[in-house]
Parts: sequence; structure tokens; C-alpha cells
Amino acid sequence: MHPGPGDALRITGSRPLRGTLRLPGEKGMSHRALLFAALADGTSTLGGLAPGDDVRRTAGALRALGVDIAERDAIAEVSSHGVESLTAPGGDLDCGNSGTTMRMLTGLLAARPFTSVLTGDESLRSRPMARVVTPLRKLGADVTSSDGGAHAPLTIEGTTLTGARVELAVASGQVKTALALAGLQADGTTEIVEPAPSRDHTERMLIALGAPVTRPDSTTVRVTRGAPETFELMLPGDPSSAAFFAVGAAITEGSDVTLTDVLVNPGRVQFVDVLRAMGADIELTPTDERLGEPVGDLHVRSGPLRAASVEVHEAMIDEVPVLAVAAAFAEGSTVFRGVAELRVKESDRVVTVVELLDAIGARAEADGDSLVVHGGEVHPADMQSHGDHRIALAGAVAACAIDGPSSIAGWSATAVSYPDFERDLEALLS
Ligand code: S3P
Repeated sequence: MHPGPGDALRITGSRPLRGTLRLPGEKGMSHRALLFAALADGTSTLGGLAPGDDVRRTAGALRALGVDIAERDAIAEVSSHGVESLTAPGGDLDCGNSGTTMRMLTGLLAARPFTSVLTGDESLRSRPMARVVTPLRKLGADVTSSDGGAHAPLTIEGTTLTGARVELAVASGQVKTALALAGLQADGTTEIVEPAPSRDHTERMLIALGAPVTRPDSTTVRVTRGAPETFELMLPGDPSSAAFFAVGAAITEGSDVTLTDVLVNPGRVQFVDVLRAMGADIELTPTDERLGEPVGDLHVRSGPLRAASVEVHEAMIDEVPVLAVAAAFAEGSTVFRGVAELRVKESDRVVTVVELLDAIGARAEADGDSLVVHGGEVHPADMQSHGDHRIALAGAVAACAIDGPSSIAGWSATAVSYPDFERDLEALLS
């Protein structure tokens, strides 16, 4: 494995993945931990925050709003005097490539008595924002843009919010969190109802931190005015990052990998169920609980895979690209149903996954709301990330399992979620 021309990564497979790895801290919980610490009155201590640029954007925005974040080794101490102490930012808040930062900040800032402007890179400025702006308006939020709130840059004129029952058009952990952050600052009760369950880190963590949040059922969250307590948290490893090594180990002959201290929230480890349905040898052992979130170890060994039928739910959406790579190595045709949301991620992941698999000689096609991947012979290839971290990492996993030299162009995209992937992969290859 070594850098190729431009910012390409070259990988020569196949070599088995063997050994034990502690993954970097979970990204979604890292964003939330920073935001919730900013809502608390006092100092919270966060260990092992996710290292990529996305989480840095949330930390940078909070600093610009007056929150003190002191970082020493892998520990961040976040000091705030509650949401009332946030101050107007000196300029636009640049969320980079991070949709999570932008959508969550929109909810946080909707009730602050100042004006904020949220912007981001070209990919983020093309992603849908009406899904968060429209429900926030039901609480009285004043969020605008040059196209009616559909895309960033977004201008938020902070105002008084009033709780309401809000039915979301899409199941989204980011949008639900934005509404919860607004609801904690609104008069009355905010009831957030989703069409299907989404990532539930916000409600698990806020309930564990004593905030006035309840969860009447799997698609409803109720929030009244209040704040979480300060806290200490060691971030568990990121299951979305674990999925790359789990698939890598499953498809590369002779592999045997243990991934320790991983967040094993049931929604987030649906990729384990999919790999099991494909016949993979994968065990999950619960070890701990942190802020209402289960933590455990994963043990994966290589073996033959067969096709499966997969219903794609919101909480597992980020794992579809790498599961599509697993499907390319399986016998038969795997169908992923309900992939529409993949089209509005960091790239149109239906298109970029099909192209990635096509490069290695696997056949895949979009069929209405489904993605169909046909397993078969694969070969080394020069792949493209299209600026999307999860496409780059999925390509690297495929390259590890294919005999011969492959490359992934646009490798620097991985900096947003997994800047140390090469180091971690190298440790399992040696
Ligand atoms: C996230 C939710 C998902 C996911 C994203 C992180 C979260 O997005 O794709 O990477 O932390 O809540 P949606 O909210 O758009 O489903």
C-alpha cells in the first residue's frame, strides 16, 4: 500500500487481514457530545473524539460561538455556561463537507438571539436542506436562503420558538437532532414524529444526561425546555468504520480480525446482520454501556459469501457502499431495497457505487428504488472516490481482496471521517 499519482492510494492485494484493532471514535456521537456539552453548564470531558474534518467543523463552529474547547492528547474539555451563553459568530460558519454539522447547527441556532450564516463545500451546498428548514419553521424558526431554504448557504435569524408536533417527511437522525436541539430551547412541548426509525443517539444520550426528553415509541421523540448535565465520555469505536474492516476480513481469504470497543447500537450494527445473512463468520460480544449506548467487540473471519435480500434502513445507510462490495464477492445477486436516500449523500451513492463495482468487473444496476449487485469474477482496477469518503474506503476494501495492484483516486476525501485508515489497515496487514 503506497501513495499513487495525485492523491491516489495504491493497494496491492490480496493479503489477509489479521489482528486486533480499536477504531477511531464514533462520528455521530462525537458531533452530539460536543453539541450537548455546549448546552450544559460547566465542563464536560470527551475522550477519543472522531478524528476527521467533519467533527472538527462542529468543534470549530462551537468555538466561533464562544464555547471553550481545550484539547490535550486525545481528550477535549468543553466548557460552557449553557445555551444562553453562546455569542454571535464573527463570520459565516463553514461546515465543510459535513451535513451533520450543518443540519444540527441549524436547529441549535434557530432559537439564539443573533444572526448566523451556515455554509459548506460544493457537495454540501448541493445537498437538500428543506428537510430540516421546513420542520423548524413549524416551531417558528426563521431560516432562509437564496432558494427558499432548499440549499446552503442558510441564514438563521434567531428567534423565540414554540413547541409543536412535527411530522418529518424523511427519517433522518440529523433532522431529528436539529428539532430536538430547537425543542430544548422552545416554549411548550415539541413532538418529533418520523416516518420510520432513524439513528437514535440523540435521544439515548440526552435521556442518559437527564435532559427533558422522552421516547414514547420508536418513531416519536418528545422534548421540553431544558438542558443536559455535564458529563464524561470515552467515545466508543465507530461501527461505520468497523464495517470496512469487517467486510475486508469477510472477503479476503485467511483473515481473522477482532474490532474492540465498538458502538453496537442495534440500528448501527445492522451491517452485522446483513453479513450474517450472507453467510459471514461474524460474532458480536457486548462489553459495556456508555450514555445509554451499548458497546462491544466484533470478531470476523473470512469465508464464502452468498447473496442476500437487504431492506435498507436509515441507521445503516452509510454501510451500503461497503456492503455492495461484499455483495460483489458473494455468489448470486444481492438486492438492496430502499436506496433513494443514498442519492443525496456526499455523492449520489447509487451512481458512484455502480461505477466503483463496474471498475472491478462486477455488474451492478439501479432498479427503481433498489440497487442490485451481481457477484462474480473481479479484477484489479483504478477506482475513483468522486470526493466521497465512503466510496474511497469501500474501494480500498475491494482492492485489499483482489489479487494485483489497484488504486483509488481522490483518496484525500477520506480525511472527513477516517484520516488514519491507511495506518490501521497497515497494522492488520503486517
Ligand atoms: C447521521 C445520520 C445519517 C448518516 C450521517 C450521520 C447522524 O444521515 O448518513 O452520516 O449522525 O444522525 P441522515 O440524517 O441524512 O439520514
